[in-house]
Amino acid sequence: MKHLFASIGIALLASAAGAETLSISCGAVGAEFELCKEGVDQWALKTGNKVNLVSTPNSSTERLSLYQQLLTSKSQDLDVLQIDVVWPGMLASHLLDLTPYVKNTEQFFPGMLQNLKVGNQLTALPWFTDAGMLYYRKDLLEKYGQSTPVTWEELTASARLIQDKERKSGHDQMWGYVWQGRAYEGLTCDALEWVYSYNGGTLIDSAGKVDVTNAGVIKALDMAKSWVKTISPEGVLNYAEEEARGVFQSGNAVFMRSWPYAWNLAQAENSPIKGKVGIAALPMGGTDGQHASTLGGWQLAVSKYTRNPALAADLVQYLTSYEEQKRRVIKSAGGYNPTIPALYQDDDVIETVPQVIDLYYVFANSVPRPSTVTGDRYGQVSNAFFNSVHSVLSGSADSAAATRDLQRKLTRIMKDK
Ligand code: GLC
Repeated sequence: MKHLFASIGIALLASAAGAETLSISCGAVGAEFELCKEGVDQWALKTGNKVNLVSTPNSSTERLSLYQQLLTSKSQDLDVLQIDVVWPGMLASHLLDLTPYVKNTEQFFPGMLQNLKVGNQLTALPWFTDAGMLYYRKDLLEKYGQSTPVTWEELTASARLIQDKERKSGHDQMWGYVWQGRAYEGLTCDALEWVYSYNGGTLIDSAGKVDVTNAGVIKALDMAKSWVKTISPEGVLNYAEEEARGVFQSGNAVFMRSWPYAWNLAQAENSPIKGKVGIAALPMGGTDGQHASTLGGWQLAVSKYTRNPALAADLVQYLTSYEEQKRRVIKSAGGYNPTIPALYQDDDVIETVPQVIDLYYVFANSVPRPSTVTGDRYGQVSNAFFNSVHSVLSGSADSAAATRDLQRKLTRIMKDK
């Protein structure tokens, strides 16, 4: 009852101040939606406005096409959009320049902010950052005397050994390694890690030169192809993040590639693998390769077609603020990580989620996808890349032919850029 009166009171106050209704799209991978809703509700309470949450597809690729449809029709249905780190160049013409609306931009990592600038336009504010990492079953590695793999070759051998022994002892659903193999943005992230780890570069360099036929690329793709149906189920060719986590978290895989969000969920009370999981850097491509982790992350932008630009920008500022990012990283136990460097030195963060401090170094060294140099063509580049990688993984093309063809396609896409 008390609660009811309280909300009536708030509603009255709000209408007196001329309450508005905004819509925001939030991701729903892992605990994302719930965290978003809590933050949004706090802002609504504080300002007396109403916010509708729109859930969007989990796949970054599908989410992008939904946004593109909405934005090209100048839809006013979405005011605030959660956008991927690789989209600013593609969506800039539909996004509000936040420069006149926001303060405190110097609190963010300068590189992240720079990534969000298209010309002079500030397309969004950075909300959380991501980097690819390796999850492993520490109990199983220990049981079979295996150490944490440092190279992909070691990972492949350990995965095979543990998988085979577990199956022999009756665990017949056991797999060695699960990852993101569906033809979508997630595969671009995984495959860039393989390629970069074999010193094969970043597909397109910062000068716009395409190089996807070098020995590193071929080695990387051949290796990943060798996993399918040996240490990874055939179904991996249709896995996004949540499908891989489903297999790993139910105890049916030794290794998994994912993002930080999976940690807290794997360690949850009801998780069958609670207390049995370790995390490490993704392996190097051979002893002369390097560790590589793709830089991911999500930003908040305001649609140019909003009826309430100032209010929408205020919501974005609130959600990306120091306090709100602090709440999110603590509540998710390091699942959704800050874009403000000072938070990695915050006493409460250090005390409650000390592992986030180690992640800081992973984030600092992660490999960006070539979205700045490709700009509005990034979507075409990534699509061509993940389709080509998928054709190698599924056995419909060999790596030499597929990469030659990809080289031609990407060169054509980048022509006159
Ligand atoms: C994560 C990353 C994002 C990436 C996506 C791919 O959500 O944060 O940058 O594009 O995964 O699936």
